[in-house]
Amino acid sequence: MKDKLLRIREESLNTIKSIETFKQLEEIRVKLLGKKGELTQILREMGKLSETERPVIGQMANEVRDKINKKIEETAAFIKNKELELRLKSEQIDVTMPGRKKALGNKHPITKVLDEIIQIFVGMGFSIVEGPEIETVYYNFDALNHDEFHPARDMQDTFYITDDILLRTQTSPNQVRIMEKQKPPIRVIVPGKVFRSDQIDATHSPMFHQIEGLVVDKGITMANLKGTLDVFAKALYGEKTKTKFRPHNFPFTEPSAEMDCTCSACNGNGCNICKNSGWIEILGAGMVHPNVLAKCNIDPEIYSGFAFGMGLDRISLLKYDISDLRLMFENDKRFLMQF
Ligand code: PHE
Repeated sequence: MKDKLLRIREESLNTIKSIETFKQLEEIRVKLLGKKGELTQILREMGKLSETERPVIGQMANEVRDKINKKIEETAAFIKNKELELRLKSEQIDVTMPGRKKALGNKHPITKVLDEIIQIFVGMGFSIVEGPEIETVYYNFDALNHDEFHPARDMQDTFYITDDILLRTQTSPNQVRIMEKQKPPIRVIVPGKVFRSDQIDATHSPMFHQIEGLVVDKGITMANLKGTLDVFAKALYGEKTKTKFRPHNFPFTEPSAEMDCTCSACNGNGCNICKNSGWIEILGAGMVHPNVLAKCNIDPEIYSGFAFGMGLDRISLLKYDISDLRLMFENDKRFLMQF
């Protein structure tokens, strides 16, 4: 038995020394010290020994067990250290290496101009509201005083979803939505996409962008309209910009006008952008029609207001000297990265 113990000690200490993984270490532990382990077996057989042999072998067996346990612990610590070292090595970061550049996108030219326009109006105390792109015939036409036979209602001009639901052809329905919800004073702009059944070409798209503006309060006059929009035009195109208002017709404003600005490309001298007129049409506007106010339960005898609507796409085209509207919506990175 003594020989056996010595052999076990010799062999196991040697094997344990060369072990490199926790798994192997555990296997050897079970093999020696587990329930059916070699050493456990010997300790169990102690009873068979004589009275004189028992304490000697017993002490020896205990010593061997302690030695093995200790060796296992040492090896475990060693393996742990080695694994940590390996991990540190494999996860090493070279802090001197140049960083990986995140490819940030940039804003679409239309968004850029929208941001600029929003800034200008926010500076004048307007707030920003959004409305649904899928609209009812009521808000898009009826409540805006369009008579039953207005050409804008035709299939050729308008995308109908059902007889009563359509893709909004203008942002103006939000005038009504806002006035229904909010009592004056009102001072808002509403940017958004609008849809008309147009053929695509260099200046037309079935989807384009507008910004609606609405001001309602006591004592609002055409002078407020002209003053506000003149300040806006100068902020957008520069102090030298002049504006002029031409009479126009919209069903939901009375009187109505279109506003032209001096062409920012030639300072009003005439160039191919403004077709040699020196002027560029920017927006439609007018005093909110009393019928529209009344439809929204705002008393036209007490309150008055003005509204305006401008096409964002054309302003962006002019601003960035882009010759074809289609480029705006093709999502060609080579184009979009230029702004
Ligand atoms: N909604 C009109 C259009 O699309 C523009 C407009 C808005 C005119 C507000 C007057 C007042 O042409």
